[in-house]
Amino acid sequence: MRCVIFDLDGTLTQSDEGIFKSIVYAAEKLGFAAPDPADRRKFVGPPLDYSFREYLGMSEDEARKAVAAYRERYWETGLFENRVYPGIRRLLRMLKRRGDWVAIATGKPTIPSRRIIEHFGLNRYFDRIIGSQEAMGATKQDLIRAALPDQYDKAVMVGDRRFDIEGAHAAGIRAVGVGYGYGDEEEFRKAGCEAYAATVDDLIALLCPGDPVPAGAFISMEGLDGSGKSTQMERLTDALGRWGFEVQLSREPGGSTTGERIREILLNKDDPMEPLTEALLFAASRSEHVRTVIRPATAAGKVLLSDRFVDSSAAYQGGGRELGVSHVMEINREAVDGCLPLLTVYLDISHTEALKRRYHATAPDRLERESDAFHARVEAAYHELIRNDPARFLCVNARQSVDVLADEIARGVIDRLIREEERA
Ligand code: TYD
Repeated sequence: MRCVIFDLDGTLTQSDEGIFKSIVYAAEKLGFAAPDPADRRKFVGPPLDYSFREYLGMSEDEARKAVAAYRERYWETGLFENRVYPGIRRLLRMLKRRGDWVAIATGKPTIPSRRIIEHFGLNRYFDRIIGSQEAMGATKQDLIRAALPDQYDKAVMVGDRRFDIEGAHAAGIRAVGVGYGYGDEEEFRKAGCEAYAATVDDLIALLCPGDPVPAGAFISMEGLDGSGKSTQMERLTDALGRWGFEVQLSREPGGSTTGERIREILLNKDDPMEPLTEALLFAASRSEHVRTVIRPATAAGKVLLSDRFVDSSAAYQGGGRELGVSHVMEINREAVDGCLPLLTVYLDISHTEALKRRYHATAPDRLERESDAFHARVEAAYHELIRNDPARFLCVNARQSVDVLADEIARGVIDRLIREEERA
């Protein structure tokens, strides 16, 4: 069995924001001078009391008090001011598929380390998580030894600071230094790591050469014009990025080169158009989108997040234009080709409320200028779609504040994505 032992901060997660803010909190509380923000990177990785003594010139006693004050904020808040490096989820899924023993050896106390891993839904990827609590005052070498199983063939430590490299060598295993964390190349050169990975992609190539990429997922967002979709698309992209999902944004009509040209025809304010022609053009744009954008992105492990998909056609052309929901779905069958979203977020708002919000819109497009009755039919059609396939939809009340709504959407989508990873 091969073992891969990871450091946490600066290797799996980018954690300087929460760490630095908690140091500033401790400085304010105890009245010592906070470090220069330009130096914040060097506080990530080494044991905190070491950093306080080494970089801020504290005595042992002062450092102990500073660590206690730091923890007051860090354990509550700082812990979650954190993000998983893009690509790490992909790497962990690939290591799991190989059957490797995967563990964490971190100088951080065990409880917050476990909480971070659970928070990001990554616990299933680790056979063991060793933090500094198991053995007080433990050196990195002790932590690495404790993270290893009794028997193994090969083992490697992956870390971003020289402490990781030196610890690995002292524990008798090889080390890979990563360049995207908080260390620098000079540090690695001195410590003499066996391999160096500048990016997570390099690390994947090193640890899982030639392995197929695990599939990503397709998520769409729907709602009436004025439901606040653009803002929520942005917020969701941000949240997914924090969790380490590699997001690719797209939209309909459009998304592909040809699709964007079809979009210009569809949203042109002056051209009247037959409802069937309109439905076919949306379907044509979709056919291109599915084949040239959505499928390649999910095959590359990305989360493809599309602003609108086939439900928009069912609602606007099926309901709004009265072609009928099932007729429009039939028109779209070949275009969609079975590529339905894993989850569709629906921003639920009544057509009257949406109209009020749109009232301030400066340049409404051809579809936005449709009558109120049109939008009432669009709304009714969306509700019919949700009733017919409730498991695919995450229907959220779009009248809530932007922040509350963004949290609810992020939670729903991330839970679904994590469940999908577990199923795979
Ligand atoms: P767009 O500017 O992308 O959406 P929004 O203003 O909601 O951000 O506008 C696309 C318009 O096209 C929108 O009014 C909905 C409509 N539409 C359809 O009628 N059918 C479809 O299949 C799609 C994808 C969009």
